Amino acid sequence: MLTVIVSGFFGDEGKGKVAAFLALKERPKITVRMGSVNAGHTVVYHGATYRLRLVPCSFIVPETRLLIGAGANVDPKVFTEEVGLLGVKGRIFIDGNASVIEEKHVEADRHNGFFREFIGTTGTGVSPALVDRVARRAMLVKDVPSLKSYVTDVAEEVNSALDKGENVHLEGTQGFYLSLYHGTYPYVTGRDTTAAAVCSECGVGPKRVDEVLLVLKSFVTRVGNGPLEGELSQEEAERKGFVERGTVTGRLRRAAPFNFKMARRAAIVNSATQIAVTKLDVLFPECSHARRREELSNECLRFLRKIQDETGVPVTIASTGPEAEDTVYIGPEGV
Ligand code: GTP
Ligand code: IMP
Ligand code: MG
Repeated sequence: MLTVIVSGFFGDEGKGKVAAFLALKERPKITVRMGSVNAGHTVVYHGATYRLRLVPCSFIVPETRLLIGAGANVDPKVFTEEVGLLGVKGRIFIDGNASVIEEKHVEADRHNGFFREFIGTTGTGVSPALVDRVARRAMLVKDVPSLKSYVTDVAEEVNSALDKGENVHLEGTQGFYLSLYHGTYPYVTGRDTTAAAVCSECGVGPKRVDEVLLVLKSFVTRVGNGPLEGELSQEEAERKGFVERGTVTGRLRRAAPFNFKMARRAAIVNSATQIAVTKLDVLFPECSHARRREELSNECLRFLRKIQDETGVPVTIASTGPEAEDTVYIGPEGV
């Protein structure tokens, strides 16, 4: 059973939280993390907060094998520090064909006016590293002596696990509207962020996918430049409790109310089969920390039904707090 987790706005919808909840529920044999160090996934589990830049959120399930796909860009320093901090050495591996972010890429990202000021990148070196990859001069993970012991064939591992009927999760990064192809170009990240791209980066074909879980937040946020329909002033955002800061950069996130039209397009292009909605406690404080459907207010249920009606996709997961377990599992039929 293969589940792909992606998000439907501009990233930071809480994929980390939802991926952690689903991992606890399904205990996947393998979880593969896509993308790169520009993305920060936050997992709060048993009171501890983890900000993950490369390690899959399933690390909280001790038996899950943690992989990083061929389409990823790995910063060896960030990777080894994170692996050490989380104590996951021995169960985390990287595809040998993943490419490497070098110091020169970080420098180029931070000192290039187009990337830094015009686009407002995260300054983590990802775009310059991708430029080198497209130019066929990037260093690959299999060529880095310090990463030798981590190298594996992710496509082979994932396809074999699926042949045996095991559960596999693929964790996307960023959001649909930051996609290089489908987003608000040129204000996008350096890669496609759709469910199809997640499969391609991992090395698994589209016919193997069982579920595509689209994560939406109860409001929209955006870091960096580019259009944001219905953008609120800082004061309005503060009044509504929409103020957030970037996980990687600490930058203030711009905010707007939930956008049904954008949600619908994201559901269509990702072929979503399920939707998770996060931060319901912000819109409906009475639902804070709810773990059972009966604890969700009528107003909250009405909001979730409207999302279902507008997208044609069932809302199966409702997130009511940052803690992985502050979640209502609604079920496959939706609300
Ligand atoms: P990217 O891959 O960078 O797009 O990130 P992400 O989608 O994993 O989201 P990120 O962790 O960067 O940001 C989400 C923030 O919301 C984190 O601080 C989470 O702890 C928090 N969060 C997630 N779900 C909920 C929720 O239901 N309620 C509240 N209050 N906070 C939540
Ligand atoms: P880059 O990916 O660092 O090149 O940044 C390109 C754009 O994507 C900028 O607007 C960033 O703020 C945004 N971005 C990249 N990664 C994330 C993320 O994980 N969450 C939210 N925005 C992101
Ligand atoms: Mg994030």
